[in-house]
Amino acid sequence: SDYWVVVPAAGVGKRMGADRPKQYLPLLGRPLLSLTLRNILSWPGLAGVVVALSEDDAYFSHLPEAKHPLVHRVVGGVERADSVLATLNYLATREAGETTVLVHDAARPCVALADIEALLRADPVALLALPASDTVKLAAPSAASGGGEPEPRLYVEQTLDRNSIWLAQTPQRAPLGLLHSCLRRALEQGAPVTDEASALELFGHAPQLVPGRGDNLKITHPSDILLAETILRLRYA
Ligand code: CTP
Ligand code: MG
Repeated sequence: SDYWVVVPAAGVGKRMGADRPKQYLPLLGRPLLSLTLRNILSWPGLAGVVVALSEDDAYFSHLPEAKHPLVHRVVGGVERADSVLATLNYLATREAGETTVLVHDAARPCVALADIEALLRADPVALLALPASDTVKLAAPSAASGGGEPEPRLYVEQTLDRNSIWLAQTPQRAPLGLLHSCLRRALEQGAPVTDEASALELFGHAPQLVPGRGDNLKITHPSDILLAETILRLRYA
């Protein structure tokens, strides 16, 4: 069964604090986005990829994958969800509503093929996610704090049941038409939409959790680069 992959890659990488958006930082000598696209282009049954880029992107056209016939590009938006919506607007003009879409962060180059295969076998609305391994605390600012402190002191309000805590990864999958309408409506409502699943949940669709693995990390902070390089070196050695 064929499917499209959508890659939001229009962020600025504020937390990375580098001289360029993090998707263009070198990992093992290759730009991060290049590694992610190379990984995606190896997935069986792929119909095409739509990459969302920032309007003034000066790097993408230099990647070898930019010329690949299955790679399409659109201009992204202010938030990640706006970038994903831009790709879905583009796809909706050329594909049927039942088409399976997988949304995958540019910043996750290490996702393993076995996990993609598991996601493709899962329910039509599903996501890779990691069961929490640490004990999870719900935080609350103390009523007494405030006044003078730059950050409020935080205290544990409650320990959550770890067995019901999952950390969302990508890819996240849904049929094109459903994802398009849920994301558009969620943004119109001003709902916080940090992943595709949250937009679907808002309208009563419960995504299936597909167990992923910890090495599908999202490169966010400088220390993630070395970690990802180690994972990739083991994977492709
Ligand atoms: N992204 C996007 N459009 C945006 C913001 C983010 O396409 N307006 C993409 C990023 O390029 C990244 C993915 O969404 O591949 C996940 O976002 P995140 O890890 O938060 O990346 P940044 O927003 O670039 O990083 P930061 O939040 O530290 O600025
Ligand atoms: Mg961000």
